[in-house]
Amino acid sequence: MKKIVVTGATGLLGRTLMQVLAHSNTVIGTGFSRAKPPIEQLDLNQETAIVDFLDKHQPDVLIHAAAERKPDICENDHQATIALNVKAAEFLANQCKARKIHFIFVSTDYVFDGTSAPYLENACHSPVNFYGQSKAQAEQTILSNSALHTIIRVPVLYGEVEYLAESAVTVIAQQILEQPNSKHDDWAIRFPTHVEDIALTLQALIQQPESNIGGIFHVSDNQSMTKYGMAKHIANVVGKDPADLVSVPEPTQNATRPYNCALKDSRLAALDIQFTRDFANAIKQVLAPHLEQ
Ligand SMILES: NC(=O)c1ccc[n+]([C@@H]2O[C@H](COP(=O)([O-])OP(=O)(O)OC[C@H]3O[C@@H](n4cnc5c(N)ncnc54)[C@H](OP(=O)(O)O)[C@@H]3O)[C@@H](O)[C@H]2O)c1
Repeated sequence: MKKIVVTGATGLLGRTLMQVLAHSNTVIGTGFSRAKPPIEQLDLNQETAIVDFLDKHQPDVLIHAAAERKPDICENDHQATIALNVKAAEFLANQCKARKIHFIFVSTDYVFDGTSAPYLENACHSPVNFYGQSKAQAEQTILSNSALHTIIRVPVLYGEVEYLAESAVTVIAQQILEQPNSKHDDWAIRFPTHVEDIALTLQALIQQPESNIGGIFHVSDNQSMTKYGMAKHIANVVGKDPADLVSVPEPTQNATRPYNCALKDSRLAALDIQFTRDFANAIKQVLAPHLEQ
């Protein structure tokens, strides 16, 4: 049993990390604006607060899932994005190295430009937006800080949401419910991945010997689809006709998005750590609580 701190425990991924890891570990979660007991409030922009928190809890593992992950928000506020996505991550990595805490950083497929998929773990960074740049910068510092730090890159995530607009996948259901003939991006290739599969992967990774954990891991489901493709599955779940949806065969969002960042998970495959699920079934379960009247 390990003592694990999860930052971003009030967020989409963090909430599920807390649930899954608590089965066989002592887990302490931190959040910010949504933190309420037992989740501790910790502003990751306050270095003295981080030091006090680590002095108090002395974890074996720290999973850093907190970030600003909306590309359009990052594009519009570079200073706040650097503070949270880069500076706070660097400070945590330094603290973890000094305290011999296994540091795990959650990064993104957006560190790539999407023109030469699939990407191996050692592929060069080529971000096309500020969010991707901030994560790439954090990765570089973390890797140079310690060979024992772990970086996991993940694609677009879905899972239990507090409200439909919380994730880039479930918001599609809201769009379809509001407008059954809504338009959906049919250009960018995505690999929607369930947060529980990320959590199960991390549970398996933290059990590995020290010689296996350092460096970059890719964690991704393997079903490729555009947002229009996801919308067709989702329309069926929410009781609308997929034939009414409108396909948009070019990019549709403000901050530039990469075309196809397929992540090849060669290191996890070598360790025989792979969790996947069928999108059509999984999205049905995720949406069910939001469709009951
Ligand atoms: N969601 C995706 O599709 C996706 C895709 C690729 C990579 N990722 C990466 O996966 C990780 C988890 O993403 P997510 O979707 O779970 O994010 P999320 O739902 O947006 O949650 C972000 C978390 O960061 C916390 N936070 C924000 N500002 C903070 C601050 N100043 N101090 C402390 N905590 C702060 C939030 O706390 P409060 O809400 O309590 O303020 C929240 O717990 C992130 O590193 C993200 O970049 C996500």
